[in-house]
Amino acid sequence: MVPSRCSPPSMLFPLFLPILLFIFITHLKGNHLSVDFPYFSLSTIKDITTQVQPHVQSLANSAYRSLDHSIKKRTSFDVVEEGLAKARASIQEAIRSGNHNSSGNQEDFIPKGSIYRNPYAFHQSHKEMVKRFKVWVYEEGEQPLVHYGPVNDIYAIEGQFIDELDNSKRSPFKARNPDVAHAFFIPFSVVNVVHYVYKPYMSQNDYRRDRLQRLVEDYIGVVAEKYPYWNRSNGADHFLLSCHDWAPDISHANPKLFKNFIKALCNANTSEGFQPKRDVSIPEVYLPVGKLGPPNLGQHPMNRSILAFFSGGAHGDIRKLLLKHWKDKDSQVQVHEYLQRGQNYTELMGLSKFCLCPSGYEVASPRVVEAIHVGCVPVIISEDYALPFSDVLNWNQFSVQIPVYNIPKIKTILQNVSEGKYMKLHRNVRRVRRHFVVNRPAKPFDLMHMIFHSIWLRRLNFRLMASQ
Ligand SMILES: *[C@@H]1O[C@H](CO)[C@@H](O)[C@H](O)[C@H]1NC(C)=O
Ligand SMILES: *[C@@H]1O[C@H](CO)[C@@H](O)[C@H](O)[C@H]1NC(C)=O
Ligand SMILES: *[C@@H]1O[C@H](CO)[C@@H](O)[C@H](O)[C@H]1NC(C)=O
Ligand SMILES: *[C@@H]1O[C@H](CO)[C@@H](O)[C@H](O)[C@H]1NC(C)=O
Ligand SMILES: *[C@@H]1O[C@H](CO)[C@@H](O)[C@H](O)[C@H]1NC(C)=O
Ligand SMILES: *[C@@H]1O[C@H](CO)[C@@H](O)[C@H](O)[C@H]1NC(C)=O
Repeated sequence: MVPSRCSPPSMLFPLFLPILLFIFITHLKGNHLSVDFPYFSLSTIKDITTQVQPHVQSLANSAYRSLDHSIKKRTSFDVVEEGLAKARASIQEAIRSGNHNSSGNQEDFIPKGSIYRNPYAFHQSHKEMVKRFKVWVYEEGEQPLVHYGPVNDIYAIEGQFIDELDNSKRSPFKARNPDVAHAFFIPFSVVNVVHYVYKPYMSQNDYRRDRLQRLVEDYIGVVAEKYPYWNRSNGADHFLLSCHDWAPDISHANPKLFKNFIKALCNANTSEGFQPKRDVSIPEVYLPVGKLGPPNLGQHPMNRSILAFFSGGAHGDIRKLLLKHWKDKDSQVQVHEYLQRGQNYTELMGLSKFCLCPSGYEVASPRVVEAIHVGCVPVIISEDYALPFSDVLNWNQFSVQIPVYNIPKIKTILQNVSEGKYMKLHRNVRRVRRHFVVNRPAKPFDLMHMIFHSIWLRRLNFRLMASQ
């Protein structure tokens, strides 16, 4: 087919704005604009516009068929983009002035201090998000594979998020109508697909990911056929959220289809296709039945008698190495495969200064959030792990990162942290805690809002444009 040179008004393509994320990840002082932005490059823009063309063509055809429809679309579309433009401008203004714009209403919380890459940008951006951000949840499909997920255990965040946005009907972020939406949620539960579709396991073949891949692909096929939204952005404003180990694999069968699609994952392994510029790293949170977090058993730093603590199975190479060097060997660096009867995991974390959070079978570990909850400074031991909410948070202000090859030196490294430095890390852990707390319904600045904010930020970073 010869591409038409005449572009009807509904021809849309995403234009990536390399400005905003960049501002979040740079410090206030210094001349940002000349710095090379590591996330969005010109080549990304080119790829996306070229790839969008064939899809745009079919959208154009359907627009010819129903012109009234497309005019109406364009109007709400303009409103959406104008709102985003205003949000960008106000965030940039907050950055420029280096002020918290708290004019008018009393706010309960204002982000401050070194745990934020840029507290002013974050504050304003969060405000704009609460004011404007709307997510359309596709209604197609039936429970339990879609619209339903686990709300407990280590994959809890998957079901909690679906429930918060899709089922509760009270989320301020839920769009009433897809035309006013900034982002589109594909409400798949990978955990439920694995649970209901992959049974029984008879042979190694039953673990193959193709069933999962086909289900998600079919779903996207259906909504892309039925509505204009997927094609107009080529998936760049669509997202799926999952904590399951298999979730990173959904796109492997069709990398082209999933090229721009945002994946919000616990397993944010950059060696498995996770792209920090496009995808969203979410914390893995272990939720006991009927609870939204562990009990707070954190002690005052004076009472933290254990230097470092870990307890857990020998899952994966990093933990094997950790156990090999430290298992039951040192009273200061307490590393156990299993706890003895009567010992309480959460209590021990609360008695420790540092909590070791090595990757297991996958990069993410619920220990990071558990440590933060009890005021224990997380020690991240991982490779290729994109830490959650890194667009906004400065992890080095409230955690310690020890490379895998330094596992034998854990004790020396942690003993070497001065009292002053430790107290600062500890205070910062307590400050950052609110961003890792699960509330239902969600509350400003909590974990759920941080997830929404991560999606919002990615949406702010590009503009859908009518080509003429
Ligand atoms: C602060 O907020 C008010 C009301 O929301 C707005 O009119 C004003 O332009 C904002 N100022 C800055 C510096 O962003
Ligand atoms: C979106 O693009 C696909 C693939 O080109 C096409 O089959 C589908 O009909 C398009 N959807 C709409 C709503 O035009
Ligand atoms: C330390 O623990 C002891 C015994 O549980 C308690 O009495 C004391 O108040 C704690 N100290 C601080 C500073 O919290
Ligand atoms: C640890 O102790 C706390 C408080 O006493 C309790 O709520 C929690 O269930 C205990 N955890 C385990 C794993 O026993
Ligand atoms: C991250 O991905 C790479 C490539 O697939 C893999 O070798 C590595 O084991 C993964 N990391 C973890 C902790 O699973
Ligand atoms: C100990 O800390 C100092 C100052 O923070 C640092 O320069 C040095 O490299 C550290 N030594 C080790 C073994 O980590």
